[in-house]
Amino acid sequence: PRKTIIDTDPGQDDAVAILLALASPEEIDVLGITCVAGNVPLPLTSKNARIVCELAGKPDVKVFAGCDRPLGRELVTAEHVHGKTGLDGPDLPDPTMPLADGHAVDFIIDTLKSHEPGSVTICPLGPLTNIATAFQRAPEITENVAEIVLMGGGYFEGGNITPAAEFNIYVDPQAADIVFKSGVPLVVMPLDVTHKALVTKPRNDAFRTLGTPVGIAVAEMTDFFERFDKEKYGSEGAPLHDPCVTAYLINPDLFKGRHINVAIETQSELTMGMTVADWWRVTDRAPNALFMGDIDADGFFALLTERLARL
Ligand code: BDR
Ligand code: CA
Repeated sequence: PRKTIIDTDPGQDDAVAILLALASPEEIDVLGITCVAGNVPLPLTSKNARIVCELAGKPDVKVFAGCDRPLGRELVTAEHVHGKTGLDGPDLPDPTMPLADGHAVDFIIDTLKSHEPGSVTICPLGPLTNIATAFQRAPEITENVAEIVLMGGGYFEGGNITPAAEFNIYVDPQAADIVFKSGVPLVVMPLDVTHKALVTKPRNDAFRTLGTPVGIAVAEMTDFFERFDKEKYGSEGAPLHDPCVTAYLINPDLFKGRHINVAIETQSELTMGMTVADWWRVTDRAPNALFMGDIDADGFFALLTERLARL
């Protein structure tokens, strides 16, 4: 299995991504979960991550609290999408497992330092503040990263928090810029992919029909999460953004993309946080990311449902 750190701001879709990872120990060895401020403030994201671990029956997973604000901007949150708690929908008990001792950034640095070069995968599912802070503080650790597989950005699909920017990148464009320039191999799941991973009614029913606490909670989470996109865009179901990341670790063949240069806009107010993806390779900027454009959505939901049934 891939040794993996999940960096996250749960979030219903983050929760499903974490559940998928915890259900797949043959492919994914979760070394720890690091939380960041994003969809909701840090006290809630670091609580929600523990609620999810307990729902999965894995209270021994190490969950760390990390950065509570972006590098150079005020925190922007997304309660309008995820609800007041960030995990609105199911009625889940408060966690009893404690947070792990220490700061998420220290955990990231120490974990990378104690592993072989190129051996640890990082999966960011929220703003990139923790990862960028770790890279700034200990630049030598980038050597030890196998790959960063992240949810963020959008190109042909545009943005979901501004016309130009996707939420995770918009919240901390400076951090994203550091990560995209780090030289670490990147795999990016932008809105171009995640807006094709929609929880339609039959897919939601498949979760609920599992009849397990996990299946029912996931159905309730996606029910809640859907309401925003439905009202706003008339979409046919909740886009399951973040689980695309953990699904990639299990079956990369579900996704298609191009190895291209992706640069982050950090100056313009109008397009702040835009992922400028050189899809047609019209510049000579060196490719730094495998930027995904398509997904086998039926294959993805089949995998997800099958794995959730294991918890
Ligand atoms: C991303 O932003 C958050 O609202 C979701 O959890 C996802 O990571 C989608 O733009
Ligand atoms: Ca997220």
